Amino acid sequence: MSGFDPGWLALREPADHAARAPSLFAETVAAAGDRPTVVDLGCGTGSNLRALAPRLPPAQRWRLVDHDPALLALAAAGAPEGTERIAADLRDIDALPLDGATLVTAAALFDLVSAAWFDRFAKRLAAARLPLYAVLTYDGNTTWTPAHPLDPVMIRALNDHQRTDKGFGPALGPDATVHMRQSLESYGCEVRTADSPWTLTGADAALVMATSAGYARSAVELGAVSVAEAEAWLAFRRATAVSGEMLVGHTDLLVFPGHCC
Ligand SMILES: C[S@@+](CC[C@H](N)C(=O)[O-])C[C@H]1O[C@@H](n2cnc3c(N)ncnc32)[C@H](O)[C@@H]1O
Repeated sequence: MSGFDPGWLALREPADHAARAPSLFAETVAAAGDRPTVVDLGCGTGSNLRALAPRLPPAQRWRLVDHDPALLALAAAGAPEGTERIAADLRDIDALPLDGATLVTAAALFDLVSAAWFDRFAKRLAAARLPLYAVLTYDGNTTWTPAHPLDPVMIRALNDHQRTDKGFGPALGPDATVHMRQSLESYGCEVRTADSPWTLTGADAALVMATSAGYARSAVELGAVSVAEAEAWLAFRRATAVSGEMLVGHTDLLVFPGHCC
C-alpha cells in the first residue's frame, strides 16, 4: 500500500491523544507491569509511544515496529533511551518481535488488516499470553454538523474504501472491532472495548478539512459522486469547518492475558 504521510499523522496526533478512552488507558498502564516492555505495531512516527510513555513507570522499554524506514526515523525523536526501532513487515506474524514483551499495542492499525491476518495474530497473542491495547480503530460512524444531503453517500464511500486491500488482504475497515472481539474470544481471551471518538470543533478545522477531503476522494474514486459534487460538498464543509463539528467514531480495545487460553 502507499505510505502514510507524516504530516497527516502529525495533524491527527492531538485528536488521537484526546480521544483515547480513559478507563482502558488506566487499565493498560496497570497491566503493563513495573518494568514494561512495550511492542508498538505499525508505530508510524511514534504517536502511540508519546501518549503512553509518560503514564508508564520510568523503567520502560519500547520496540517500535513499522515497515516504513522514514516513519521509523521520525519515531526516534524523543523516544526513551534504549528504544528499538524495527523495520519489519507485520504480515509475517511469526516474525513479530514479541519475545520478552509485557504489552503489545497498536494505534489506528487494525482497521487496515484482514480478518484472516487478525485471526492468525490473535492465535499468536493468545499463545504468548500477552495483553493487547489497540486504540483508535475506526468504527464506521461519522457525523458532521451542520449536515449536508451528500453526507451519507460520503460515509458509505469511505467505509467501502476502508474495506479495500491495504496490503493484508480485504481490510476489516469499520468491522474491525467486532471481528477482533470475536476472534480473541474464540481463543478464550477477555476483551473490553470503549468508544474513543474524535470530537472535532472549530479549533480542529485543518483536521476536519483533511479528513473530509479523504471522504470526498473515496467517493470520487468509487464513482459515488462526480468531481463537481465532491467539490461542492467540500466547499460546504470548508465554509462550516470553524463553526461546525465533526465526530469520527473509533473504538479502543484491551485484551487481558490472564484470561487467555
Ligand atoms: C494509520 S498509520 C498509524 C501510525 C501510528 N500508529 C499512529 O497512530 O500515528 C498505520 C501504520 O502502519 C504501518 N503499516 C501498514 N502496513 C504495514 C505492514 N505491512 N508492515 C508494517 N507496518 C505497516 C504504516 O507504515 C503506518 O505507520
